[in-house]
Amino acid sequence: MLAERQQPCSEKTQINQQEVSKIIDLFDSKRSNLIQVLHQLQNVYGFLPIEVLMQVAKKMSVPLSEVTGVVSFYSFFSTQPQGRHTIRVCLGTACYVRGGKKIIEKVQELLQVQLGETTEDQRFTFEIARCIGACGLAPAVMIDNEVYRQVNSNKLKSILAKYE
Ligand code: FES
Repeated sequence: MLAERQQPCSEKTQINQQEVSKIIDLFDSKRSNLIQVLHQLQNVYGFLPIEVLMQVAKKMSVPLSEVTGVVSFYSFFSTQPQGRHTIRVCLGTACYVRGGKKIIEKVQELLQVQLGETTEDQRFTFEIARCIGACGLAPAVMIDNEVYRQVNSNKLKSILAKYE
């Protein structure tokens, strides 16, 4: 996760091709610097839109499939605008057995968001996790760096309300 990530971009984010180009130049357009280039661009835009990835591929002479492969391999890269908060519902074995799936459905219902997406108001990005170290008190949910244990539908509503 990028600690220094800037404010999330809206869908109306304008991609400044010159700016993208300058950032790539900072790293000499070298293929070996691809990850650093992507990091820097994500810091600027908050995520990596496909237009940016296409420009990176072209300017660095790297196949687009390789660029998108790197982006999808590393979980800290995102091709979607990110919310102000990230909610991760645990679907590790203990949480799954104790109702993690129901929590997922409740999050979808309350926030009107699908897995991997960001709410329209940019409040939350919704993801799943595979064990967040609270198995004894499953099901667990993590919002940003805060872990909530023994979450149920009612509790979830009041937890989410804290993140207006
Ligand atoms: S399986 Fe969910 S916290 Fe471990």
